[in-house]
Amino acid sequence: MTGTFRRIALALAGVGLAVTLAGCEAPPQTSKQTGYRGTGMAQITSPELEAYLKQANVVPPPPYPLEPSDAPLAKDFYQNVQVLGDINADEFNRLMLSITEWVAPTEGCNYCHNPENLASDEVYTKVVARRMLQMTRTINASWTDHVKQTGVTCYTCHRGKHIPTNVWARPAPEDLRGNFIGAKRGHNDPVESVAFSSLPKDPFTPYLLGAEPIRVQGHTALPSDAAHRSIASTEKTYGLMMHLSKSLGVNCTYCHNSRDWANWSDSTPQRVTAWYGIRMARQINAEYIEPLKPVFPATRLGPLGDPLKVNCATCHQGANKPLLGVSMLADHPALAGPRTPAVAPDAAPPADAPDPKAPAKRAPG
Ligand code: HEC
Ligand code: HEC
Ligand code: HEC
Ligand code: HEC
Repeated sequence: MTGTFRRIALALAGVGLAVTLAGCEAPPQTSKQTGYRGTGMAQITSPELEAYLKQANVVPPPPYPLEPSDAPLAKDFYQNVQVLGDINADEFNRLMLSITEWVAPTEGCNYCHNPENLASDEVYTKVVARRMLQMTRTINASWTDHVKQTGVTCYTCHRGKHIPTNVWARPAPEDLRGNFIGAKRGHNDPVESVAFSSLPKDPFTPYLLGAEPIRVQGHTALPSDAAHRSIASTEKTYGLMMHLSKSLGVNCTYCHNSRDWANWSDSTPQRVTAWYGIRMARQINAEYIEPLKPVFPATRLGPLGDPLKVNCATCHQGANKPLLGVSMLADHPALAGPRTPAVAPDAAPPADAPDPKAPAKRAPG
């Protein structure tokens, strides 16, 4: 009797162990040191994870090679070109093919156009796409402290979908049942964007749309008077940090030396890149996406009626560099930034232009 009992108990324990271990990753894991010895600054990865990232980040080839062309500028050739007027019509048409592939591969051109009149702005997606073109050029031209020369295209975020996979909007307020129950403030309500932690689930409104300071560590023995060094903002900050780690597929020590989170001289160069990334996300959200609110139909808005916005995961999608650092800009130079018209090599300054080498004239009086 006791023998049977023991056997059943052992079998149950075995099943329990198998179930528990199924949650773990199979070896081998590799660990790469990213800071001084003894600081625990290391990144852990596995061949499985690397294989997954490789297949999730395949870069689509351009429609055909970009060839030199003497076609007229798009603004002179077409009727209603407001952003891409500075590239020639051939390059313009090729870019239309690419953005179709990146944003609406099944619907084609008509996702943004009335096929009867390509110049018309009646389809809202075209108005959004025009603003996205400006946004993409700004990211590539003004935020090289973050995106370096790698830059981004529509594909970095969209990956063949109308709406990027990772977006956020302001969450609906909690239902407090007429103040009968206490506010959870994001606790026990795990969401993926903060890596399923029990931390406020919307660190984005204050930090990636607003510009609240992300400075919570006290430097004095007594509580400081700075309002942003409160428990509530500490929780929001840790929520944001969980998001940073999860979006990039790294742990905290990719950027920090955990003996002193706030200290910049102990941090890695990646933390500085991340600092610029936070400012870049703020500009994308506040200046480009929020103002598109009246353009979007209600189905494209969050529960409080604001457009779906960008966070670190929108571009990164689990990789420390989006698309594993492969640049698509060389194949699509029109997205690198506004192009200044080329000056013919034999062009001379007008005869009455001041000589640049002459000493500057003093202002009168
Ligand atoms: C994701 C949205 C989108 C898709 C898909 C798209 N376009 Fe466009 N298209 C635009 C935008 C935005 C403009 C205006 C660009 C500007 O103002 O600089 C434009 C402008 C044009 C124009 C200039 C019309 C004029 O006279 O002003 C042509 C031609 C054009 N597109 C052709 C195409 C073709 C062909 C396809 C399919 C291969 C296509 N587009 C797919 C967004 C799109
Ligand atoms: C930094 C990330 C990012 C980049 C880069 C980006 N987009 Fe977007 N795009 C978004 C987000 C986020 C939305 C969703 C907004 C919403 O639905 O409220 C969006 C929405 C759109 C929509 C509306 C789709 C629909 O069905 O409502 C179009 C069209 C679009 N983008 C075109 C483009 C084009 C074209 C480019 C490249 C020139 C581009 N986007 C680059 C983030 C990006
Ligand atoms: C990709 C880089 C990166 C990762 C990963 C990261 N952080 Fe941060 N962290 C930053 C940056 C950048 C700031 C400063 C933000 C600012 O000033 O705008 C910061 C600020 C902080 C602060 C506030 C410091 C102060 O001045 O009061 C704390 C605490 C913190 N991080 C903890 C963490 C923890 C815990 C993790 C892991 C869950 C983590 N961080 C992961 C980049 C990172
Ligand atoms: C518009 C797209 C985009 C968004 C949004 C974005 N990044 Fe990046 N990020 C990039 C690109 C592109 C690179 C690669 C630059 C390069 O080649 O070095 C990069 C690189 C980085 C790196 C350097 C990685 C390394 O290993 O050297 C860090 C750290 C980083 N991003 C953090 C962030 C954080 C944190 C956020 C959110 C606040 C963020 N990024 C949002 C596009 C983006």
